[in-house]
Amino acid sequence: MTTLSTSGPLLDVRAISLRFGKSDTNLLQGVRYSVDAGETLCIVGESGCGKSVSSLAIMGLLPAGAVTIDEADVQFRGVPLDLHDTKAMRRFRGSDIAMIFQEPMSSLNPAFRIGNQIAEAVTAHNDVTEAEADARAIEMLRRVGIPAPEQRMREYPHQLSGGMRQRVMIAMALANDPALLIADEPTTALDVTIQAQILDLIRNLQRDSGMGTIMITHDLGVVAEIADKVAVMYAGIIVEAGPAERIFNDPQHPYTIGLMSSMPKMTGPSERLSTVPGTVPTIETMPKGCRFSTRCPFAQPICATPPSEQDFGQGHRVLCHFAPLNEKLERVQ
Ligand SMILES: Nc1ncnc2c1ncn2[C@@H]1O[C@H](COP(=O)(O)OP(=O)(O)OP(=O)(O)O)[C@@H](O)[C@H]1O
Ligand SMILES: [Mg+2]
Repeated sequence: MTTLSTSGPLLDVRAISLRFGKSDTNLLQGVRYSVDAGETLCIVGESGCGKSVSSLAIMGLLPAGAVTIDEADVQFRGVPLDLHDTKAMRRFRGSDIAMIFQEPMSSLNPAFRIGNQIAEAVTAHNDVTEAEADARAIEMLRRVGIPAPEQRMREYPHQLSGGMRQRVMIAMALANDPALLIADEPTTALDVTIQAQILDLIRNLQRDSGMGTIMITHDLGVVAEIADKVAVMYAGIIVEAGPAERIFNDPQHPYTIGLMSSMPKMTGPSERLSTVPGTVPTIETMPKGCRFSTRCPFAQPICATPPSEQDFGQGHRVLCHFAPLNEKLERVQ
């Protein structure tokens, strides 16, 4: 039996580098972040930057034939995870580490009643009777705000709205009190009232059972509300990470600064990020040095070489030749 460590990070992603197909450019390059028990880490970044791929890699869910993992140093409760071994990873999935997927329809089986799917997730990991598993399914459906859960649990996925299916996914992920929840855009399809209810539910589970949470979201309003830590991802790299308060109030990477300036006002409606000019490079057009250099307002010739990480303490780290910012501005002017 493996001894699980109780101190240190719950999930410690020390480095993940991988590429798809025959490409010799890594889609993810040295991705690094950690989350402690009871803590919420938010991963932010534009569409296509690798947020989903990095969490699927941790869950051992990337198609083995399509991906080459060059570097995978990941520990869960102090135990190394072998991301190449999808069978071994199955041991952790569901009960220790649960994931809410970005595409709710692709992770619900259309042929089975939703109650059965949740109950099955419960019985797969616990020694409970069918009646107990059904009761747990009903309780979880109620907790995610599905009205009349006793009736609803008998329905099939196609009978539910997109928002309801999303909530069923959330109920299924949380049914086994996971130690770590990885939630990929879990509330994007939901209206604000239900979104608030789901965020409350996650917070309660964190408080009651010390669940750690990785939340992937485009919504900086949500990040501001729930994040203890933030990791900013750009083109497969974590360009800046640190305590949420530092990332919001003292961002150092030009990309983070761009994202923060697209932050909606507290009084305004929730918006998606969009105001950094240009688009994320594709794997074919990936710059050799700093991956942000093609869009960076501060880019200089040195940015054609890879930057090394600057450490500002308290876990605040920045991957930019010119960090800290003040120095950067002086050098550019
Ligand atoms: N199986 C695959 N084979 C090849 N490329 C892939 C595969 N899966 C994902 N990609 C590529 O990896 C990149 C990152 O995708 P990913 O889904 O992680 O982005 P994301 O940050 O989650 O974006 P979004 O915010 O839109 O969900 C994309 O360019 C995508 O085309
Ligand atoms: Mg995604």
